[in-house]
Amino acid sequence: LLRTPFALAGALPEDATIQGVVDRAYRDHKALRDGANADYIPALARVNPDTFGIVLVTADGRVFSAGDTDTEVSIQSISKVFTMALVIQQSGPDAIFNNMGVDATGQPFNSITAIEQYHGGEMNALVNPGAIAATSMVAGEDGAAVWANILDYYSTFAGRELSVLDDIYRSEAATNQRNQSLAMLMHAYGHIDGDPLEATDIYTRQCSVGVNTRDLAMMAATLANGGRNPLTGKTLVDAGHIPEILAVMATAGLYDDAGKWLYRTGLPAKSGVGGGLIAVSPGKFGIAVISPPLDKAGNSVRGQRAIADISGALGGNPY
Ligand code: DON
Repeated sequence: LLRTPFALAGALPEDATIQGVVDRAYRDHKALRDGANADYIPALARVNPDTFGIVLVTADGRVFSAGDTDTEVSIQSISKVFTMALVIQQSGPDAIFNNMGVDATGQPFNSITAIEQYHGGEMNALVNPGAIAATSMVAGEDGAAVWANILDYYSTFAGRELSVLDDIYRSEAATNQRNQSLAMLMHAYGHIDGDPLEATDIYTRQCSVGVNTRDLAMMAATLANGGRNPLTGKTLVDAGHIPEILAVMATAGLYDDAGKWLYRTGLPAKSGVGGGLIAVSPGKFGIAVISPPLDKAGNSVRGQRAIADISGALGGNPY
């Protein structure tokens, strides 16, 4: 049941060449000092800006890495992809399409204007209001069960048990009044059933999950491999839903810079303000970079450079 993009599998160069390309991108961008850590969540400003790791995992499970692949940062907005995937897997793609929608907002990720424009519709599950609404749609008897489902799902994607970075969670929970407002508005417009503040709290927890570069690459490679973790063999998403997930990543994964990114690389991708960036070359590889300094749109500077270079050298652009 594999669709067109996966037919491209097998076209990657040999292992030594891939490792050489990854090493070169690491060397080329290691000294880059552009951008700055996010600081609107106080704990993110204290993260070491020099952390820089690259991991590429092929759809058949070969792992190539350079730099710091073990240091954990908070997953932040990259989590939104996997919560959206969980909702699609549990409730079908129409659930996302009909609630927050699948269109780019052209606005920053925490924009209130973006909600007002279409009363909470015609946006997507990768900006904060759509993402909090997606979290509120995850199946579970109560908040604790919903949270357990989310954390277990992310862990199975990564192939190891993940947990919350408590200092990040506490810092964001103390300062997330804007997200609470976004959730209240989404509730007022009928896009969040139940308690919007509970949905915001679970969303804040999901954003605080600690991941290293290898975890993120494994999660991306699972998407590249049609929804099946290439190392554990566990299926997280039906292959038929992968094109829908990648479409939203392509449209909105780098927020209001998603078009620029797609123009340069052609890769569905997702950034997080913790400094992580993942990208997917369908049927070929998943790749992740952690480097906390961000540009103005909120995307890792070294992450974008390194992934663009590596994918360019390996023919990762599916178009
Ligand atoms: O809700 C927030 O603002 C953060 N927990 C996540 C935002 C984020 O990662 C946007 N990324 N570029």
